[in-house]
Amino acid sequence: MQTDWTPVALSHDIPVASAAPGRIGDTALAIWRSASGRIAAWSDRCPHRGMRLSHGYVRGERLSCIYHGWSYGEDGGCKRIPAHPDLTPPESIRVPVFACREASGVVWVAEGQPAGAPPDLAGFRGLRSLHIAAATGAIAEVFGGDGPVLRVKLGPVAVIALVQAFGDETMLHLMAPESCDLATLDALSDAAEALRRNIEAEATA
Ligand code: FES
Repeated sequence: MQTDWTPVALSHDIPVASAAPGRIGDTALAIWRSASGRIAAWSDRCPHRGMRLSHGYVRGERLSCIYHGWSYGEDGGCKRIPAHPDLTPPESIRVPVFACREASGVVWVAEGQPAGAPPDLAGFRGLRSLHIAAATGAIAEVFGGDGPVLRVKLGPVAVIALVQAFGDETMLHLMAPESCDLATLDALSDAAEALRRNIEAEATA
């Protein structure tokens, strides 16, 4: 399955009023969720002095930089500079904003104007994301398939593996059938960890 969208995180890993780091291609992202639940993905660099915005904090519908507290609204524009509370920040102070959508419990990001919607993975829910110290080729070998969205077996259970290239490394976002009970989800999580170790061992053999 091909798509213009890149899976960058599982929704449950970005709680309300929080920010986390991510990547799309070579670009570092600040993925954050506002108090009302709106998801966003921005360049992870504060326009002031370059601090990572993923280290910042969320107040209401704004993300603020941890360094000097400049705060940015949902369009990425700077709304407030605490050291100059009476100043209306210039329009030019702006964080690059990426197209970002949530679908089936996954946060998807695209560069430019994506064609169509992210894949519909109805019937599955986020299991866990794994950072694997091996390139996507090693993942394709293990799963016997290539691409950002793979339907594979994890033990006896059919799951979905979302494969995100991370330079020479890979983020694997795994999704389990919604029908799985807690014990099965725990077993799948353990199997995923074992899978990660196996892939990394194979890649360095
Ligand atoms: S570096 Fe972000 S507010 Fe100064």
